[in-house]
Amino acid sequence: MKPPALHLKAIGKAFGETRVLSGIDLTVAPGEFIALVGPSGCGKSTLLRIAAGLESPDEGSVVLDGRDVTAIRAADRDMAMVFQSYALYPHLTARQNMALPLVMRRMTARERLPLLGRFLPGVRAKLSAIREEIEAAATMLKIAPLLERKPAQMSGGQRQRVALGRALVRHPRAFLMDEPLSNLDAALRVHTRSEIVDLHRRAGVVTLYVTHDQEEALGMADRVAVMLGGRILQVAAPDVIYRDPQHIDVASFIGSPRINLLPASVDAAGRAQCGTHIMADGIDSPTSSQVRLGVRPEHLRLDSEARPWSLPVAIERIEFLGAGALVHCRAEGLQDPLIASVPPARAEALRHRPILHASANSLLVFDSAGARVGQRQIAACHAAE
Ligand SMILES: Nc1ncnc2c1ncn2[C@@H]1O[C@H](COP(=O)(O)OP(=O)(O)OP(=O)(O)O)[C@@H](O)[C@H]1O
Ligand SMILES: [Mg+2]
Repeated sequence: MKPPALHLKAIGKAFGETRVLSGIDLTVAPGEFIALVGPSGCGKSTLLRIAAGLESPDEGSVVLDGRDVTAIRAADRDMAMVFQSYALYPHLTARQNMALPLVMRRMTARERLPLLGRFLPGVRAKLSAIREEIEAAATMLKIAPLLERKPAQMSGGQRQRVALGRALVRHPRAFLMDEPLSNLDAALRVHTRSEIVDLHRRAGVVTLYVTHDQEEALGMADRVAVMLGGRILQVAAPDVIYRDPQHIDVASFIGSPRINLLPASVDAAGRAQCGTHIMADGIDSPTSSQVRLGVRPEHLRLDSEARPWSLPVAIERIEFLGAGALVHCRAEGLQDPLIASVPPARAEALRHRPILHASANSLLVFDSAGARVGQRQIAACHAAE
């Protein structure tokens, strides 16, 4: 059977007067891993809960494998949800926590009776099949030695793996995960990331993964959906989201350190001027004369002499980060500092090169509403190269 796809269609949701989601359209292809990323409060969890059936949308529908499941309750949707808080039963062992969804699904109330149940015909076979599946999942997640422990006797990472195991043994049609790694320390987070990606590949089912951590989203997902204020601004492959953001909020949210944004005005000849300095040429901005130029820290260069298309700055401080260094600069008339990311070995020498250039074709231009302005015509900074 082909793995199912998930389609969230024109979803809208309000809590009382507060509009939380508007016009959300998202299609997750069969076997695809999509990360929903966005700042706190933008509606990620609400959208995931709607997909799971834990919340009902005011508008729109949830379609799983071509079937409208909007009116179907969570338990019958066959999707496995993994939460940040693990949601394990504290009085049950890891094994019992993992077994519970299988026992509930495969065995009748009579068969589940503590003592009598196991003497009913067929029950032993069912229990032994469940036991085998749990052991296979536990081996895969490296939690086999922990199966007899209760949640209080495990670390956060171990509990999270039990929660993943519980989702896995159900053979769900989709995984829905809400910040499953945010309670783990940095090293364990990186390790568990790969485990989740691996688990997704093996299970081969649709995965919708909520995070506010852009690194996690870019590193794990096939495609990233950037959400802001209850809307999806862009859905694209990680490198496209980074390189080719269609909105200023996507450009600002994705990328660390943040993209530099310079306010500029575009004259009739299509030149973008930042203060008295021309920063780019050939901009076709029919909608506004005020634009913002976005340039990523790794595309800024420091030089010692002024040329056309450059900006004099004062170098405020140099921050060493091990593998890289950040040069914090301030330009006259600009409120925010500009940050250039440079190789650490060169950082000190750059103190005496207070002229900032953007490398060719690295400028992203946004109109006053934040939409990306067509880029083809831009001859940004060629003269500075
Ligand atoms: N049951 C509820 N009743 C009222 N408002 C709610 C409810 N659930 C969520 N909200 C509001 O909806 C908005 C979106 O919440 P949601 O939990 O979806 O955000 P989020 O993107 O998951 O944020 P975070 O990254 O902090 O988890 C928030 O403003 C929140 O206060
Ligand atoms: Mg949330």
